[in-house]
Amino acid sequence: MPLTPQRAINTARRAKVISFFQQKGGAGKSTDAVNVAAVMGENNPPPTPDAPCPVVAAGIDLQGSLEKWARKVPEDRLPFDYVVTHGKLGELTKLAEDPDVLRIIVDTPGFADIDPDAEIDAIDPLGNGPAAEAMREVLELTDLALVPIVPVETLTHDPAEYTIERLLRPRGIPFRVVINNWDSGTDRTKADLREMQEWCTKRGYQYMSQPIRRYKLHAQAPERGMTVIQYPESGTALRAREDFYKLALGVEGLI
Ligand SMILES: Nc1ncnc2c1ncn2[C@@H]1O[C@H](COP(=O)(O)OP(=O)(O)OP(=O)(O)O)[C@@H](O)[C@H]1O
Ligand SMILES: [Mg+2]
Repeated sequence: MPLTPQRAINTARRAKVISFFQQKGGAGKSTDAVNVAAVMGENNPPPTPDAPCPVVAAGIDLQGSLEKWARKVPEDRLPFDYVVTHGKLGELTKLAEDPDVLRIIVDTPGFADIDPDAEIDAIDPLGNGPAAEAMREVLELTDLALVPIVPVETLTHDPAEYTIERLLRPRGIPFRVVINNWDSGTDRTKADLREMQEWCTKRGYQYMSQPIRRYKLHAQAPERGMTVIQYPESGTALRAREDFYKLALGVEGLI
């Protein structure tokens, strides 16, 4: 997809920015962002023990769910650095220009404070508040946007479309849908996955070929201070982890 002129990305910068966007809360932005960062971080350790991690997870929201999660993971087991900007502008841009940084995975909050007066062809409906400005900075920096969507949970479908049509496509931001929290395992749920994929195809939305399956382990991970790379060695944990390894590999192929 060609970049629009207003998104003249600084090609000299080394860091690639992968951001999760989805208007609706609860589709899996934070879960997916933390675990993609963990897998990428594991694959890109610091060059020396004292060097900063080349992979950074970034949160921009005021409540800082990423921060809460990351704080629970013992420092020596966290394979990425993290920053939470709390809406402070310019921090992400600075980070993206840091030559030591290779990947920035951004977890964004859902957005509800849509400008009700926004024209349908306005560049975006985010409005003018500080949260909107923080989102615009992320959009400006993003090399690949990922939009999580949950099969059967139709409440996540229209907001995904809205996110894509109102935020991403008008800016020419490359994006993929991530089918998340898929309850795999039966013929019926296999049909749910196919339906979700067809939903994407009908709209011309490419999706990551690897869906993220639903596992209790993922839901318990924030409380336990874990990311996929710390899951215990069990068959279920291996499958839960496999999804994120494949997703991260797919993302690397796109940036
Ligand atoms: N693949 C999955 N398997 C099991 N549980 C999941 C999975 N993905 C997300 N969840 C659970 O669904 C809930 C919502 O996920 P998450 O917090 O990542 O969504 P979010 O998009 O970041 O929401 P918000 O916009 O409110 O920040 C969490 O309880 C999370 O543990
Ligand atoms: Mg979140």
